[in-house]
Formats: sequence, C-alpha cells, structure tokens
Amino acid sequence: MQEEKKTFYITTPIYYPSDQLHIGHAYTTVAADCAARCKRMQGYDVHYLTGTDEHGQKIERIAKAKGQEPLAYVDGIVAGIRALWEKLLISHTDFIRTTEPRHQKIVQEFFQKVYDKGDIYKAEYAGWYCTPCETFFTERQLVDGKCPDCGREVELVKEESYFFRLGKYADRLLEHIETHPDFIQPESRRNEVISFIKSGLDDLCVSRTTFEWGIPLPFDPKHIAYVWFDALINYYSALQENELNPQKGKEKFWPADVHLMAKDILRFHAIIWPAMLMALDLPLPKKVFAHGWILLEGGKMSKSKGNVVDPNILLEKYGVDAIRYFLLKEMNYGQDGLYSEEMLVNRINTDLANDLGNLISRTVAMVEKYFGGILPAPTQPEPLDEELKQTAQKAYTEATERMDKLDFSNYLAAVLRLVSRANKYIDETEPWVLARDTAHTERLGTVMYHLVECIRIALILLHPTMPTLIGRVLPQIPLWENDAHITWEEAHTWGKTNPGISLKKGPSLFPRIDIKTLEVNDMTEETKPTAEAQTPAEPTPTEPPKEAPVIEHKPEITIDDFGKIELRVAEIIACEKIPKADKLLKLDLKIGDELRTIASGIAQYYQPEDLIGKKIVVVANLKPAKLRGVLSQGMLLAASDPAHEKVEVLFVNSIEDGGKVS
Ligand code: MSP
Repeated sequence: MQEEKKTFYITTPIYYPSDQLHIGHAYTTVAADCAARCKRMQGYDVHYLTGTDEHGQKIERIAKAKGQEPLAYVDGIVAGIRALWEKLLISHTDFIRTTEPRHQKIVQEFFQKVYDKGDIYKAEYAGWYCTPCETFFTERQLVDGKCPDCGREVELVKEESYFFRLGKYADRLLEHIETHPDFIQPESRRNEVISFIKSGLDDLCVSRTTFEWGIPLPFDPKHIAYVWFDALINYYSALQENELNPQKGKEKFWPADVHLMAKDILRFHAIIWPAMLMALDLPLPKKVFAHGWILLEGGKMSKSKGNVVDPNILLEKYGVDAIRYFLLKEMNYGQDGLYSEEMLVNRINTDLANDLGNLISRTVAMVEKYFGGILPAPTQPEPLDEELKQTAQKAYTEATERMDKLDFSNYLAAVLRLVSRANKYIDETEPWVLARDTAHTERLGTVMYHLVECIRIALILLHPTMPTLIGRVLPQIPLWENDAHITWEEAHTWGKTNPGISLKKGPSLFPRIDIKTLEVNDMTEETKPTAEAQTPAEPTPTEPPKEAPVIEHKPEITIDDFGKIELRVAEIIACEKIPKADKLLKLDLKIGDELRTIASGIAQYYQPEDLIGKKIVVVANLKPAKLRGVLSQGMLLAASDPAHEKVEVLFVNSIEDGGKVS
C-alpha cells in the first residue's frame, strides 16, 4: 500500500486590496513561501493559501469616491497583487478572494450554524469604529479619542447589530493555549494573548447595517457580516470542495498547520478565530505565528504615512533572489526589523556577493584552472576536510530546526556559516600553493571536491529562499539536471556530487552594488571576483612552464641599508575607496596599540570589504605623504607579476599585529 503523504497547510493573512502593497506585506508572503517550499522539498503535500479581503466600509467608500462599483474597483487591484506575488515567485496553491461565491456560501453557512446554536444574538451596538482598521473599540480603549492602533479619527457607531458570544469561550481558549504551548508563537506573543484574555473578553459585534458592501446574514439579510468575521472564515472556506478546489481539501488539510501574520492582527487570529471554530466544534489551527513589523526610520510603513517601500521597484533593481534573501535574513525571530536601501545593499554585498557568490566563482575558476574544468574525485580526507564536512552537517541540522520554528533569519545564518567556513577553507588549504607541485594534485582535487560539496549543500538549503539561484548556478556547476526534484534530505548526505562533472565560469551570480550610488555593478570579466583575483597566480600543473621573464635588478645594498626599513605586521580594521581616486584604497590599520592610516593603489585588485580583518606587512617608518587628501603613514607590501598585470598583497596569517618582519 502506498503511504499517504504528510500534509502541510500554511496561510498568510488575506490582504486588503491596496494599490500599494509594500515590502511589509511582501515579508509575510515570502516567509510563508519559504516555509511552503521547504516542506515540499521535505516531501509534504503542501497547501499554501493567500488571497484578498475585499469587503467592508473602507473599500465601499473608496470605490464610491472613484465612481466605481466596489467589485470593479477591487478587480483591478487584485490583479496587481497577483502580479506582485508572481514576481516574488510566491508558490501559493490557492488564492482566495472574499468576493468569490465559494467563500460567501461558507460564510453564510457559518453564520447560520452559530446563530442556530445560540451563540449569535441581536442587540444594540453603541461604540467607536476605526474604518481604516475595520475594528470596533470601546471608549476606554481609545487613545486621546483616536484609534489606539493607527492613531486616526474614529466614528461613533450606534446601530442594531448581531453579537457573537466571544466571552463564553474565554476559559476554553485559555485552557487550550495553556495546554498547547506551540499554539501561539513566539512565546512573548503567547503571553500577551494570555493576559489579554484574562483581562476579560467582551462579546463581539459581528454585523453592520449602515453600508452594503459585504455578505448578507442568511437569517437577517439587511445585516452584513462584520468584515473580520467574514475574512477569517477564508482559511476554512478555501478548503471546501468545489470546482476550483476539487481535491478533498477539508479532510486532507484541516486544521491549518500555520497561520502566519504580523503582530498587529494576532488577536483576531489567536482569540476570535479559535473561538469561532470552537462554536462550530471544528479543530483549531496548530500554530498561530506572529512576526514583527518592518519599520522605516519614521516607524511602521503605511500608506497613510506615505512611507511605503514598493517591492516592484526593488525587484526590478536587485532581483528576486536578493530581495527574498534580504527580507528573510533581516527580520529577527518575532521581532521588528528596520529597513533602508543601504541595509539591503550591504546585505547583498556582504552575504551574497562576497560570501556566497565569491565562494562559487572562486571554486569554479580554480577547477577550471587546475583541472581543465573537470571536478576530480576526492581521495583520503584530512582532518580539515572532516571539520568542513561536520560544519556542513551542522548547517543542515540547524537550518532544519530553525526553519521548523519559522526562525528564518537564523536558518539563513546557519547556511551562511557553512559558506564562510568554506571560504576560510580555501585560505587554509591554499590551493594555489598545492598547484605548484604535481605531487599535490590529488590533495588539490580533494580540496576542490570538498568545496563543491559545500556549495551543493548550501544551494539546497538556500533553495526555498532563493528559488532562481540553482537554475543560475547549473550552467556553471551541473549538480543536477534541473531544480525540479531536489529534496531537502539530499543536503544531509555528504558526497552526493558526482566527480567528473564539468565546471564552467559564468556571469556573476550577485553583482556587487555601489553603496554610495546604489548602482548595480555589472561586473566585467576584469572586475569579477575570480580565483585569479583572489588567489596568487600560479601556473596550473598541466600548463607548460612559461619562459622566464628578464628581470632588471636594482643596485646592491648592505644589510645595514636593509636594516633601516622597519617592516611590521598590521591588521586592517577599516577600509574604503577614496572618492575620485580609481586606484586608491584608504586602509585604517592597527599596529600593536597604534592606529594609522595608509593609502594604497590596490583598488583595482581588492574590494574594501574583503580586506577588513586581514593582516598585512607595512613599511612602518616611511615618511608620511599626502595622497588625494589622505595622509598616508606607511606603505603596504604587495607583489606584482613581471608584466604588472596582477597585484597581490602579502598577507600574514598567524603573527599578531605589531609583529616585526625581517
Ligand atoms: N485584511 C486583514 C487580514 C485579514 S486575515 C483574515 C489585514 N490586511 S492587511 O492588508 O492590512 O495586511 C496585514 C498583514 O500584512 C499583516 O498581518 C502582516 O502580515 C503584513 N504587514 C503589513 N505591514 C507590515 C509591516 N510593516 N511589516 C511586516 N508585516 C506587515 O490586516
């Protein structure tokens, strides 16, 4: 008998139709998408639901002001939202609109059942209503007479309404939360919800009569359903069997594994929604997870503040993989995260261009250079190789655990630790030194194989975050035929790369962006970080030795002459380009307890970020000189090839700064 596939049902909130969905909204959909893609790779049958919340007074008013029917107005906007999700490569399996008949039918059935049960009753509502938030407030909840959530004007509402007996479910809810520690996450949010319930739950007004744009109540059609009551039911209505959803969704996927949202709408999902389900004796969702907000310097992004950041523009400029990576990496578990374009660019340059992109381009370039592009089989591993392998396995375990907790930032941090470790492994194994002697060819091949294995594992683990990356790497490293059936489990097993595959240099995967101009640097062949740029130029073992160049020597000096030069080890603690000087970098150095600055003509060969933390040798007693406005207090030692085409700074590994060189 064939084993039933495990299922995973994840939802985002259904968004209010707005022509300005911003990166805050994009965060939730990207985060849910990442979890959904990972679960698919883990073999789950995934149902990922998103959609739009189209009823309510706010929409009715906007449409009227535009002289449109509400449905015609929202149709256009919903098309824009769908297009945005497409650009962000959101892999939802369903997109529900609350204006669809399949939803309306279930909402009406829902109301009828709860009404028949006696949990909905008629009374008079007198209180305050915030239309932009579509939320009722009591006098006591207002802040300076305004909406406590958005700070805008509220309206006095006095009308006959139906109420849902929310208060009746308070004790059962508390018990459920207390006996299901995972139900509301993260922990801090769970505690907030518990104290909110303990402070007392009032019954909830669930119908309106003063406008028309909504779903009429079956037992009293002059009332329309309160938009939140209507909206929450989407998670259930979308699973009903109908033409759009022929699979037995309800039996298969209910209850949801995760409802994902930001903290502002947690109470609706962690209090009202479960109480509604209890009223119908339906099983409750397994997890309600509230992430933080993406904040700008002026606070939360919102259309009314006019400070929204349009994901369409960012996608155009930086590409979908980079944007998705940034969003997931930057927001810490359950907390608010700041956004600025500089932060985005820094993240792309540091993690993607420098670490990941560089690891891949260096490895491909070295396999091309030393083995004609054919990946050798590994031989006997050394302790350093074992350590690298263990780092890869740790990355797999940590990434899996963090992903399960929806801790996207730390899942990515775990993968990036592997990438950094692999870059360090290159520095430690010094392939360019191994390549000097054919006796080390096997060892060099083993090093190359280990690097490609790390890349393979990192690519698998990054696949849910950056869905186009593998497809872009494949022409350079053909690890798979395509990216269609890669499983998460493959990242757990070391050694799955086939030796003999043919590696080939290709375009830069993550072009570096100029932090000052925010211009994407379309790396040319010369500026691309390749093995040549990163590693000393050595002939490959297979290359015939070149003719020795003629070297013109300087006049002889004595040991005393040489003794006049003070050479010291210095650590680069900061480094940047010197404006309007193409060739110069400004380096801040630490030599023992002394700090100095030097200017050096290596800007064409090194990126400032790559030098920070490295140790070099400087002529410490050279007379200071001003270079393009920078007082240079010394000179670093670098080697250049006889043709002066390549320059390589001399680095020191284990001697501390301040150390003497003689
Ligand atoms: N329509 C309701 C949800 C009904 S669900 C049954 C709604 N819609 S909304 O368009 O305002 O979107 C709310 C969701 O968008 C938030 O819960 C969050 O997931 C996302 N975000 C909106 N702004 C955000 C930030 N600035 N930062 C992070 N997420 C943000 O509320």
